[in-house]
Amino acid sequence: MTASSDKTRVLTGITTTGTPHLGNYVGAIKPAIAASQDPSVQSYYFLADLHALIKCQDLKRVQQSRLEIAATWLALGLDTDNAIFYRQSDIPEIPELTWMLSCVCAKGLMNRAHAYKAAVADNEESGSPDPDRGVTMGLFGYPVLMAADILMFNAHRVPVGRDQIQHIEMARDMGGRFNHLFKGQFFTQPEAVVDERVQVLNGLDGRKMSKSYENTIPLFVSEKKLQKLVRKIKTNSLEPGEPKDPDTCTLFQIYSAFASVEESAAMRTEYENGIGWGEAKNRVFEYLNAHLREPRERYQALLEDPAHIETVLRQGAERARAEAAPFMDRLREAVGLGRFV
Ligand code: TRP
Repeated sequence: MTASSDKTRVLTGITTTGTPHLGNYVGAIKPAIAASQDPSVQSYYFLADLHALIKCQDLKRVQQSRLEIAATWLALGLDTDNAIFYRQSDIPEIPELTWMLSCVCAKGLMNRAHAYKAAVADNEESGSPDPDRGVTMGLFGYPVLMAADILMFNAHRVPVGRDQIQHIEMARDMGGRFNHLFKGQFFTQPEAVVDERVQVLNGLDGRKMSKSYENTIPLFVSEKKLQKLVRKIKTNSLEPGEPKDPDTCTLFQIYSAFASVEESAAMRTEYENGIGWGEAKNRVFEYLNAHLREPRERYQALLEDPAHIETVLRQGAERARAEAAPFMDRLREAVGLGRFV
């Protein structure tokens, strides 16, 4: 076994504002759980609940989403003896580091952040006299909090979606500037990892599956609801008997994200042979349902036992703080906030 300090540190956060869907599973959860089984890696996975407050003031939704996301990762087999799994809000050193980084981060760097720029562009488009209308300091400084998440644990690799690459670059910038100003190698330079092989799943309407498009299939809906949603997946008007193109078909795409190579090839043949849409949808539903049944049961049991989830997350926070607290002492000293004696 490698000492934990020799391991590659892989870290990623999940913003807790929604309910996990098939797209999250295929694009993020499944590869993350697989990566955490690599003995040369120490993974840090956390519920980015401080980030959730930026977009969401609905406390019930934040609370429910935290529970659902934690239950989802556990139900799908995350090994929490191995991965360090915690809530961001359980680590007070993170907001503390956010402040330290805010004090070395150029405001101009934040002006260039995508989320902020998009908000300004929306205001300009709608003719608002105030380009910053509705922009909170939380939204504006979002990349600083994210940099603190990453730099706190000196992560080497940060698996993210494309839209997040800029934030990792900003974290490198802030870490580098801090090192330079306070004359030490405090922070490692993190790298974004965007896995090209990981699939971006399409949703019910054929666009990217995303909670903002309201086109998702939640991972652990009831069997009945799952069947209903699969039936809603958009197909075309080809009749049974007519050959169909699997490569432009959302139904096929979703199926093949779960099925083995052989199973996908067999389904491809069915398409060529003109399988009817009703039949194809039944097959896909049956397949998904068979794969999700067991984790769904575990998920339901976990949701009924929030005390267990609380214990698991607190243990994760304890492990995370065992690293964060002494590191924060060092950082305090570096900036002149150490103890007098
Ligand atoms: N901002 C990320 C997202 O919306 C979530 C996140 C927060 C994160 N902190 C992070 C991802 C640190 C990676 C590392 O997807």
